[in-house]
Amino acid sequence: MGDMGDMGGISATIRWGILGAGDIASAFCGDLVHAPGHSVVAVGARVPGASDAFADRWGIERRHGSYVDLVEDPDVDVVYVATPHPFHHDVAMLAIEAGKAVLVEKPFTMDATQARALVTASRARGTFLMEAMWTRFLPSFVAIREVIASGRLGELVLVTAELGQWFPHDVEHRLFNGELGGGALLDLGIYPVSFASMVLGSPTRITAVSDPTTTGVDAQTSMILSDDAGRHAVITTTLRATTPSLALISGTEARIEIEGNFYNASAFSIIGRDGSVERVAAPRVGHGLWYEAAEVGRCLRAGLTESPVMPLMESISIMETLDEVRRHIGLTYPGLAR
Ligand SMILES: NC(=O)c1ccc[n+]([C@@H]2O[C@H](COP(=O)([O-])OP(=O)(O)OC[C@H]3O[C@@H](n4cnc5c(N)ncnc54)[C@H](OP(=O)(O)O)[C@@H]3O)[C@@H](O)[C@H]2O)c1
Repeated sequence: MGDMGDMGGISATIRWGILGAGDIASAFCGDLVHAPGHSVVAVGARVPGASDAFADRWGIERRHGSYVDLVEDPDVDVVYVATPHPFHHDVAMLAIEAGKAVLVEKPFTMDATQARALVTASRARGTFLMEAMWTRFLPSFVAIREVIASGRLGELVLVTAELGQWFPHDVEHRLFNGELGGGALLDLGIYPVSFASMVLGSPTRITAVSDPTTTGVDAQTSMILSDDAGRHAVITTTLRATTPSLALISGTEARIEIEGNFYNASAFSIIGRDGSVERVAAPRVGHGLWYEAAEVGRCLRAGLTESPVMPLMESISIMETLDEVRRHIGLTYPGLAR
């Protein structure tokens, strides 16, 4: 784990700068009330004036009419990159080059090449960088990792996870637009893929099938990720239906069944091979986005340049998995090598 040495001049309150005043940025600002010691001090939009309504809503004093002005704001400690994914790499790079800590929305980048470039740059600069995979930091996920680490599940055998949300077929929406990184895989599929990565690590064999939207991005993708120990992750994601979004972890001795939408879970059960059931409640407060902000603050105050909960090498590995899934299903995006 890297070390920021003198803590890079981090102030007592972690001062956030929001880059891209869209939907998830709004949810993030609303949720930050649950994180003491954090404050949104600035917002930057592509054009002057575009973020005024956002800034008024969230009581943000400093409004910048360009992303460059935001990342160069000396009163900002951490930049939260909340643009559509095709812009994550370039704007996160701007922030790193300006010496800022950076939290980048999921998916981290469009592909592993971009992910590696960001990690290389932040390590060279000695700055903090993290993928905003918020579900990892929920109390339920902390508890799930503890159960796995205890060995209670025995040898891990199978992860099954799916995430589906119905969206109207709006070709104007970023989810259906390849130029804006649309499709189920990168937007929703990243959650079960990241979940499988958290539980099983990096896969060594990958297969996938997919069906496209009329706009050519993936509407529904199913994949099997497996490793040399013979463990499987069976994953489906879709834009065509609101599914239960369930996730299970099965081991030789017991399994974990997560209640409700796994990505914002507040409880799960541990079910033994003998049928015994133990329910673990780990309630989420608020939307749940503030837990990742709290982790960023914890890391910055500890002088870390990455989080042990969402390590940078794992964010790269997840992008490698998504690259390989895309290769199998023939899903390409403008400007990428494939
Ligand atoms: N963690 C979560 O639960 C969650 C949920 C939804 C989305 N996300 C992720 O967050 C990111 C943003 O998603 P979102 O739903 O918030 O997107 P959005 O509302 O459509 O757009 C976010 C902002 O990005 C900026 N932007 C920069 N270049 C743009 C371009 N060419 N076209 C459109 N907008 C552009 C705009 O802000 P300005 O005009 O201010 O520059 C826009 O308001 C995505 O990567 C997505 O995967 C995460």
